[in-house]
Amino acid sequence: MKQQITSLFTALLIGLTLTACGSGEPASAPSVADNDKVAVQNKLNKDEGKTEADTAAENDDKQSETETSAVEPSTEQISDGANILVAYFSRADENYSVGTIEVGNTQILAEYIVDEVGADSFHIETVTPYPADYDECCDVAKQELNDKARPEITSSVDMEQYDIVFLGYPIWWGDMPMAVYTFMESYDWSGKVVIPFCTHEGSGLSGTDSSIASVTGAQVLTAIDMRGSTAQKLNDDTKQTVRTWLDDLGF
Ligand SMILES: Cc1cc2nc3c(=O)[nH]c(=O)nc-3n(C[C@H](O)[C@H](O)[C@H](O)COP(=O)(O)O)c2cc1C
Repeated sequence: MKQQITSLFTALLIGLTLTACGSGEPASAPSVADNDKVAVQNKLNKDEGKTEADTAAENDDKQSETETSAVEPSTEQISDGANILVAYFSRADENYSVGTIEVGNTQILAEYIVDEVGADSFHIETVTPYPADYDECCDVAKQELNDKARPEITSSVDMEQYDIVFLGYPIWWGDMPMAVYTFMESYDWSGKVVIPFCTHEGSGLSGTDSSIASVTGAQVLTAIDMRGSTAQKLNDDTKQTVRTWLDDLGF
């Protein structure tokens, strides 16, 4: 089995190298479209009674004020974090390239985002935990993927109160863990903005942002992806990359 998994990653890494599709650890924050920033501002302004037209007018003003700078951080607009949720799936224990860890790679990234944007957080955990052994976990995850399983989640979140949801997960077999699908299918995502973030060891996002859009029907903004081993040792440079991505999104 170990050989199979090693071959999988080797194939993935070769594929990534050949296609140079931009996945893997970002050298710089992903470039965020202007309309992503507007979508965030519209949600953040909701509690202040501002209309989308107000936001558009403010953006026009800001544009002329900040023409020569990159993107102006708009943290002053985050009056409280009550409408932002960081929901994530993450598994500790033995994992690829990091050995046995106490806190999952995605969780480390999630906690940083929580601190930076002042959000609530929700750890997506399954009723049946995954094996601590890496190879055994790979076998279970592969079976779940093949079966399109929907593993039961231990608890739920009051999703109605949130306008913006950061959704984090590791890449498992080129997809999201099936529990993330259970999570997505448990809620009504109408009118919500979803911002994906993921960790992996070479596969990048693997199109999961598109899957999130099609499963939830929500507006999905620019995602960030990072190697798990990088997230595990989150350093100042990597934090800056994440911070730049958040700045560009308007947080
Ligand atoms: C079951 C399983 C399957 C994995 N499949 C992939 C994969 O297809 N591509 C990849 O780049 N990394 C893969 N990985 C590595 C994880 O994406 C990576 O270690 C991630 O950072 C784990 O995050 P976590 O600690 O938050 O769970 C896999 C790991 C496991 C346990």
